[in-house]
Amino acid sequence: MRIAVCPGSFDPITHGHLDIVRRAALLFDEVVVLVVTNPDKRCAFTVDERVDMIRASLGDLPNARVDAYEGLLTDYVRRVGAQAIVKGLRAMSDFEYEFQMALANKQLLPEAETIFLMTRLDNLYLSSSMVRQLAQFGGDISKFVPEVLIERIMTRLGPPADADNQVG
Ligand code: PNS
Repeated sequence: MRIAVCPGSFDPITHGHLDIVRRAALLFDEVVVLVVTNPDKRCAFTVDERVDMIRASLGDLPNARVDAYEGLLTDYVRRVGAQAIVKGLRAMSDFEYEFQMALANKQLLPEAETIFLMTRLDNLYLSSSMVRQLAQFGGDISKFVPEVLIERIMTRLGPPADADNQVG
């Protein structure tokens, strides 16, 4: 059984992440979408909320499941017996950070491979932080996240209904 782990903060999950998960699910017997606590980030949604949002977004993808983990990614990968860590790669700006993580993970767990799937062109500049920022200013996030998430995201992050955007 070939298992891949797709790790991330998923704060929140976007169409960009989902595209990578779906493509990984075609290549592996099982894909674990793993919400990993990134100590350098303060998240807008709790781990449980992010797990719920991923479950709601995956729809009918029989060989994908969702889990959460706090600790070293490689410890989780070893524990579930996965062969690969699958991540999406967007613009060059992702490369250095991802390369560093992939090398560190290779040192920690040589038997696992990090595999990068190139983003689809239309997701090149899509990120969770962009979705959060759009939501904060009342922008339209419908092109970037699954429909089932829009209300939760806007309720949490969107401006209050009577906001008039006046500064000062
Ligand atoms: O979506 P993100 O925030 O870019 O994902 C980064 C994440 C969570 C995959 C990364 O920070 C991670 O793997 N954290 C777990 C801690 C760990 O294993 N660190 C060593 C990797 S160098």
